[in-house]
This record gives sequence, structure tokens and C-alpha cells, in this order.
Amino acid sequence: MGSSLSAARGFFDLFDRTPTIDNGSVDGRQLENFQGQIEFNQVEFSYPSRPTIRVLNKFQLTIEPGQWVALVGRSGCGKSTVIQLLQRFYDVTHGKVCLDGVDIRDLNIHWLRSQFSLANQEPILFDMTIAENIAYGKVNPSLEDIIEAATKANIHQFVISLPQGYETRVGAKGSHLSGGQKQRIVIARALFRQPKVLLLDEATSAMDSYNEQIVQRALVQAQTEDPNRTSLTIAHRLSTIHSCDVIHVLSKGHIEESGTHTELMQKHGLYYHMYVQTTIE
Ligand SMILES: Nc1ncnc2c1ncn2[C@@H]1O[C@H](COP(=O)(O)OP(=O)(O)OP(=O)(O)O)[C@@H](O)[C@H]1O
Ligand SMILES: [Mg+2]
Repeated sequence: MGSSLSAARGFFDLFDRTPTIDNGSVDGRQLENFQGQIEFNQVEFSYPSRPTIRVLNKFQLTIEPGQWVALVGRSGCGKSTVIQLLQRFYDVTHGKVCLDGVDIRDLNIHWLRSQFSLANQEPILFDMTIAENIAYGKVNPSLEDIIEAATKANIHQFVISLPQGYETRVGAKGSHLSGGQKQRIVIARALFRQPKVLLLDEATSAMDSYNEQIVQRALVQAQTEDPNRTSLTIAHRLSTIHSCDVIHVLSKGHIEESGTHTELMQKHGLYYHMYVQTTIE
């Protein structure tokens, strides 16, 4: 139990770190009836350690409530940075980021972060059981809900094949599991929380294409079942984002192209060229 507690503290240390954020943010307001609208308004951003390099420049992006949006672009173009800014791990250098029209700097930072569930390329697992990892942070979770999330993330069959099932401990940082299994548990955790905004940053990158397709289908299904959820997906494998409502292509610090998969393919621009290249690879 001691190790579970210290793992839990590690989690909070990680997610509550506030490198450039002032302490006043805990006094900020909460939105009573947050709809899930997100807007980046003329955002400029440089990391504090590299002030001369502008990662985002005149970055403009609006995500409507319930929309399922994909953000794509070359490695290092700033996609994960967008997600970091949204959760306020850093503040913008100029411009603003708003939720339902309210600048996130005016919002209570704990409330703000509780609106998002993030599954990313490097899953964070604790030395606890699989059930505890999926239901992380929830007091008295129901096993039924845990199984439902695990089934959607296509990890349930694997879990029940283990001698101790959901009570199996995953080891330090999930070392008893493969990369793809860890990612599926983190997706299950993200779905279990039923967030207002789901953030997926290369969340299926360690899976083989069979499992990736199943998880992608489950995510499409989850989005259809809860049309009020706003989702932002980042993916290199462009075949995984075909069914998103809109795809934005990030290049040179801002959105260069937007549209559905079909629209962007017809346009023969950046997306088309990325698509052709990734399907050849
Ligand atoms: N903490 C940091 N401090 C300084 N620079 C950073 C930091 N994190 C990222 N960068 C730089 O900011 C730029 C954008 O990084 P980011 O991680 O947003 O790219 P990305 O589009 O997510 O790339 P990938 O597809 O490889 O994940 C890169 O040039 C990167 O080197
Ligand atoms: Mg990234």
C-alpha cells in the first residue's frame, strides 16, 4: 500500500507541476456548465528555456463542443505543445486560450485540468493492480465500469486471461506489460473518467495495426455514444483519423490546412503529401 501511495503522489506531482504558472490560478473560477468549446486565439508561444524559438506563431484554432478534431503535422511542429498549453503546463507568450470563451488563465487550474483526460505515447502506470490503474483517482469505483472501459480499449480479453485478472499488479511503471498493453490501459483510464474533453496524443502508436484498428473503432464508437464529448487526436498514422469531423494540419507554427480527410485529399496540399508518404512507408 505504501508503494501505491508513493506512486499516487508521483502522479499528482507530475500532473500538478506548474512550471510557469502563478499560484493565483487556484483562486480562479470554474465554469458552471462547460460545453466543451476550445479556442486558441492568435497564440504565440516559445518554451521558457528556448525563448528565441517560436513554436507557435499566429496559431488560431477553434474546436466546437462535441467535435472530434485531429491535429497532424511533421515531428516537432508543435502538436504536443498545443495539448500542454491547453492544460496550462505553460502559458502562452501572446494571445490567449479560451474554454467557452473564458481565458484559461482566469480559471481554477485544478478544475481546468479535471476537464481533460489525456492518453499519450508514454503511458504512466503505477505499481498497483490493473483495476486500480484504470479507475485511478475514483473512490469506490464499480468493477462494471472498469470492465466497460477496458472492453472499449480492447484490453479486457487480455486482462481476464491473466491468473489474477483485474487484480494483477502491473509492476513499477507497468514493467510487466508490453507497450501496447500499457497504452490500452491508459486509454481505458481516459474513457473510464468520462471527461468533457478527451485528448489523445499518439495514444495508439505502440500497438500493432490489428489492435490499433480495434481501439480506433472503439474510440469512434465512444465518440458516437457521447456526442457531447469534445476530442482532440494527434496521430502520425493518418489512416487512424479518417473519420474525424475535421483535420487540421499544423506547419510553421500555425494551421495551414483544415478539412475532412476527403476534402484535404482532393486539395493535393500538405495533408495529401503527408498521406501519400506515410502510406508508402
Ligand atoms: N520542454 C521543452 N523545452 C524546450 N523545447 C521544447 C520542449 N518541448 C518541446 N520542445 C520543442 O518544441 C518543438 C515542438 O515540440 P512538440 O513536442 O510540440 O512537437 P510534436 O509536433 O508533438 O512532435 P512529435 O510528432 O515528434 O511528437 C520542438 O522543436 C521541440 O524540440
Ligand atoms: Mg508530440
